[in-house]
Amino acid sequence: MVKAVVLGAAGGIGQPLSLLLKTNPSVTELGLYDIVNTPGVAADLSHISTPAKVVGYLPPDDGLAKTLQGADIVVIPAGVPRKPGLTRDDLFKINAGIVRDLATGIAKTAPKAFVLVISNPVNSTVPIVAEIFKQHGVFEPKRLFGVTTLDVVRASTFVAEVLGDLGKAPSISVPVVGGHSGVTIVPLLSQSSAALPSGFAQGDLEKLTNRIQYGGDEVVKAKDGAGSATLSMAYAGAEFASKVIRAIKGEKGIVAPTFVHLASDPAGGEALKKEIGKELEYFSAPVELGPEGVASIKPLGKLTDYEKTLVEAALPELATNVEKGVTFISASK
Ligand code: NAD
Ligand code: LMR
Repeated sequence: MVKAVVLGAAGGIGQPLSLLLKTNPSVTELGLYDIVNTPGVAADLSHISTPAKVVGYLPPDDGLAKTLQGADIVVIPAGVPRKPGLTRDDLFKINAGIVRDLATGIAKTAPKAFVLVISNPVNSTVPIVAEIFKQHGVFEPKRLFGVTTLDVVRASTFVAEVLGDLGKAPSISVPVVGGHSGVTIVPLLSQSSAALPSGFAQGDLEKLTNRIQYGGDEVVKAKDGAGSATLSMAYAGAEFASKVIRAIKGEKGIVAPTFVHLASDPAGGEALKKEIGKELEYFSAPVELGPEGVASIKPLGKLTDYEKTLVEAALPELATNVEKGVTFISASK
């Protein structure tokens, strides 16, 4: 029995993500919450002939608490998306408060749930959730994840495009580490499961790296003011949620990059800190998932000199983003 909850379920990501979760046979209950339209979305999804019982609530009459009651896994795509000219950090002003309030609801009603944060800027919204959970005395780092799967999905697709064979995309895996914005997105293309073509020059590698780092901008530009990635994000979010669900149900050996607090690792992420050579609180790294959430943070492995410069370049922005999230909560105490 798994109850999955989507907060922001009526939005561009929320609706297709809820649809994909409704088609996951392991999900037996699906709770949908938004400030608009959730009764309609829930009624619509409830006619699909899969096991999940669907409920949808709006804010009145404790709708958030009702939705969260008994939740095992909570996915958060609530908040405003980018328009051309905006950075993810520009969304902080609005999304920080939304995520803080939703995290407060989770801390009160479903403190043991696995929480998957999609709302941007992920590098700051994950620390916001952690700080709220700390205030309520319910912070368990193993159960909190920033969803960076879309970067991994893009990397597989773009490598397959370079190879001229999209048919290979589902089986190509490329670790993408760091965080989820611009330079903090670090694809480790030297560890791609499919080798890049012979003759792939440094310039080609830099272009491909840049495309993965700024893949979100491609969609924002193409949507021309109508938002950012929604369908590919719903796919990525459902993929990651399904991995977490499989791991909590006991499946072993599932590894996925995700943005986590280093205290989620049994060894406090010391191996990762040593590899990177810096003190860090949060990082997106390949994580082995288990019944408690994070089972361990895996090492990044051997990096090329170019990848080392990318990691170096990511660290200052990552630290600033994390600090901004932490301060948002500590300053409002
Ligand atoms: P959207 O505007 O289409 O949907 C957002 C939904 O959130 C809306 O239905 C809105 O009513 C709801 N909402 C707003 N305030 C709320 C609150 N207090 N409680 C509950 N629901 C609330 O936006 P979208 O395109 O679905 O994007 C959502 C977020 O996901 C954005 O912040 C976007 O930047 C982010 N995003 C992240 C990734 C990633 O890789 N992590 C990828 C794409 C988008
Ligand atoms: C993405 O990577 O597509 C998302 O973070 C949305 C965005 O703002 O680009």
